[in-house]
Amino acid sequence: MIEQCRNVDLQNYIDRMTQDEKIAQLLQLAAPFFEGANEGGQITGPMASLGITDEMVQGAGSVLGLAGAEEVIAVQKAHLAKNRHGIPLLVMADIVHGFKTIFPVPLAIGCSWDLELAEKSAEIAAREAAVSGVHVTFAPMVDLVRDPRWGRVMESTGEDPYLNSEFARAFVRGFQGQNLQGDKMRVAACVKHFAAYGLSEGGRDYNTVDLSERQLREYYLPAYKAALDEGCEMVMTSFNTVDGVPSTGNRKLMRELLREEWGFDGVIISDWGAVKELIPHGVAEDEAEAAYRAIQAGVDIEMMTSCYVHYLPRLIQEGLVEEKLVDEAVMRILELKMKLGLFDEPLRGADPKAEQEIVFCEEHRLASRELAAKSCVLLKNDGVLPLGKHQKIALIGPLASSGDILGPWSWSGSQEDAVRLDEAMRSYVGSSRLIVTQGCGLESSIEGQMERAVAAAREADVIVLALGEDSEWSGEAGCRSDIRLPQAQLDLISWLKPLGKPMVAVLFNGRPLDLHGVFGETNAVLEAWYPGSEGGAAVSDILFGEVNPSGKLTMSIPYSVGQIPVYYNHFNTGRPKDAPDAQVRYVSQYLDIPNEPLLPFGYGLSYTSFAYSGLTLSSETMTEKEPITVRVTVTNTGSCAGEEVVQLYVRDWSGDVVRPLKELKGWTKVFLQPGEKAEVAFTLCEKQLRYHHANLQYKSDTGRFTVFVGTNSRDAAGAEFRLEK
Ligand code: NOJ
Repeated sequence: MIEQCRNVDLQNYIDRMTQDEKIAQLLQLAAPFFEGANEGGQITGPMASLGITDEMVQGAGSVLGLAGAEEVIAVQKAHLAKNRHGIPLLVMADIVHGFKTIFPVPLAIGCSWDLELAEKSAEIAAREAAVSGVHVTFAPMVDLVRDPRWGRVMESTGEDPYLNSEFARAFVRGFQGQNLQGDKMRVAACVKHFAAYGLSEGGRDYNTVDLSERQLREYYLPAYKAALDEGCEMVMTSFNTVDGVPSTGNRKLMRELLREEWGFDGVIISDWGAVKELIPHGVAEDEAEAAYRAIQAGVDIEMMTSCYVHYLPRLIQEGLVEEKLVDEAVMRILELKMKLGLFDEPLRGADPKAEQEIVFCEEHRLASRELAAKSCVLLKNDGVLPLGKHQKIALIGPLASSGDILGPWSWSGSQEDAVRLDEAMRSYVGSSRLIVTQGCGLESSIEGQMERAVAAAREADVIVLALGEDSEWSGEAGCRSDIRLPQAQLDLISWLKPLGKPMVAVLFNGRPLDLHGVFGETNAVLEAWYPGSEGGAAVSDILFGEVNPSGKLTMSIPYSVGQIPVYYNHFNTGRPKDAPDAQVRYVSQYLDIPNEPLLPFGYGLSYTSFAYSGLTLSSETMTEKEPITVRVTVTNTGSCAGEEVVQLYVRDWSGDVVRPLKELKGWTKVFLQPGEKAEVAFTLCEKQLRYHHANLQYKSDTGRFTVFVGTNSRDAAGAEFRLEK
């Protein structure tokens, strides 16, 4: 499927287009506007109020939310028949963690710490999407997240800028491949949401973000930059403000930072409706001003509002907007179309036959199962796991037989296709050793169900609880102030607890939860997140010990909502609670809860145990020219083979500005047989110690550092070195 595309004389197209036609290229509309789409012509509600004319649709540059080979072919053909210049549509969609074969949600993928599998998941998603006619995916989402109330944390890989950057790169490689131009089985990636959307105040979606430029650069920008360094073709703006200016009208973010400083020359798209939202934000009086601010700031494509098509002509005529800005935006859009080969093959990869063969094929599902198993994090285990196949098991809970385990942003995935936990467990132990009952609804009790659950549990040797969140409770606009499991599910645990049987909780959810009422009450807790199409199978593989869990948290699990935001790479404060000379009262602490999260970044158990020993540094001094090598021996001290994520952190003891207690600088995975040891070596160099100083210069400090290597961000042994000039 790899072919070369010819170069197209794009300037010639632009020269032949009228001003209205050019502006229409900047318009992105949803599928219902287009002839040939399944729901084509059904323009109702807010869509009707956009005032979109037939000419605008005919000239539109792109469509979103369209997929399915036949449908895309029909839409593209109808469009080409009407578009005066025969300019094909770009087809964009949210292929966030799989197309039809749904992979675990990105937060879970992060917990695998497995860049290769992450890349493969994006490659498979691209392949399925491409044969279904999609050209661009609105992914990866790389917003750094620290507040689990925010529903969108499930779309991110978590709270660490370095880890997020590595995953951003892996996803872009997977989506785009090496040769987007000729490889029809890949799609262009669009990194989002630029910028710092993950910091929405109070974890409430679309809310204000305000942070210093230093913090923005230090923590929030690296992952977007990493995606762009990897060649990501597009950037999507975010809904929030940054320093008082909504991103979508933020000249500093787009023209100055993205374009001038970073040299990004790809397409910038607004998020859905975000251009018009400049009005309620309060930086534009009307749609004309919104259009003015967005185009001046650098938005090329306006998604699903019509400020550009209605008002740019007038703004140009009045001399307020230079036509050159429109021409540049059109050029970038046409360049992307050319890169994707659309001028030669407007149908690109769309192929109903290939779609039948490839989409949701066995190979893809196996990849999803493998990644899902690697993404699960074992949070607690007193020895009850793995389960024995001879045991009689009561599987109880609202998600025991549910297909709602795909997670948000799975719009082409189908819950009917998901492997449910009960069916997968049955294939391990047969029907006679598995009793399945619901126990309660996700949010409410159901008459007689608790009694049935107790009766089932009485018959069993072990209870497996399938608990969690409805997928609607996370994702966009899925924010919650109380992130405990609903009372009905906690009641279920309380009903079963007096039986004294071992209890395992399996959690299906999109955010780190407050685990009060679960963690202390059960013997084992497996965080499965939303594991995707093969979720039940992957979880069963772990429950029965077919796969030894190796996932590690990439977002801290809070003790309770009152300590949010809680993250590992925080500052020490001037009055740290654990200082040797700390006073009883006047220290930085809560009086009623611990400062530490329940479980920290990097945490995750295995069925075996690993011991770390012999941390050594090749030198106690590092210079710009001489990196140091950090070595440690990891031994599998348990009785089964297992994989460990060995993590490397650094602390800079005295900076120009305060430095975090620990910062992740590297990791590696080792797979060890029982009794086996491995020496793990990391190279650490001066560049990795750089950060943004008060004057925003990016450089390192000489002086004292500690390097830590360990099994999570809390439990890691340290050794000191000095950086010298
Ligand atoms: C809004 C979401 O914020 C964004 O992530 C998504 O890509 C667009 N809608 C398009 O669906």
